[in-house]
Amino acid sequence: MRRGPPGFCIWLTGLPSAGKTTIGKELVPRLVERGWYADLLDGDEIRLGISSDLGFDRKSRETHASRVAFLSKLLARNGAIPVVTLISPYRSSRDHARTTIGRFVEVYVNTPLMVCEDRDVKGLYKKARSGQIKEMTGVDDPYEAPEHPEIVVDTLNLTPAQSAAYILGELERQGWLSGTATPRPA
Ligand SMILES: Nc1ncnc2c1ncn2[C@@H]1O[C@H](COP(=O)(O)OP(=O)(O)OP(=O)(O)O)[C@@H](O)[C@H]1O
Ligand SMILES: [Mg+2]
Repeated sequence: MRRGPPGFCIWLTGLPSAGKTTIGKELVPRLVERGWYADLLDGDEIRLGISSDLGFDRKSRETHASRVAFLSKLLARNGAIPVVTLISPYRSSRDHARTTIGRFVEVYVNTPLMVCEDRDVKGLYKKARSGQIKEMTGVDDPYEAPEHPEIVVDTLNLTPAQSAAYILGELERQGWLSGTATPRPA
């Protein structure tokens, strides 16, 4: 029988180019180092696999988030830490994930739109501004910022490594790593 604290999901949400994937990649090895089975569930990667049938309209984004939540539930209930990096722009989708998974840590990767547009890792803001693509979060599709996230990361003042260290410190402080945290319901 497995002993130790129960698994939980770390769900990073934020605008495109906010830094979710970059920070998630810094966070996973830190958790593994501490003996956890942790893995990155990245929105883009999952779109290449089980969500390859989906687009970017609201219904598709909701379905995508709900599939990721389902996977995360299975992982977390087996003692793992899925680290989800997904724009997940709608509050209702994130609340659905919280209800599905139960042990849920919402991390708001808080980067102002102007900074994200400046980073524009995939060049999508540029394409959206010039009308080449539609349904771009932050441009012509909404991003509903979390109202009560467990953790907020300020990427203007922290490097990706510092952000990961900050998240780890907060997980510790809130009792997630020792199993004493009280999950907040949706
Ligand atoms: N303090 C910081 N924290 C995180 N990323 C930063 C920071 N400063 C600069 N960056 C850069 O910003 C970019 C963030 O891109 P990343 O792909 O991680 O964003 P994302 O939130 O996953 O976007 P998307 O939703 O489009 O996948 C990277 O190029 C990263 O190097
Ligand atoms: Mg990403």
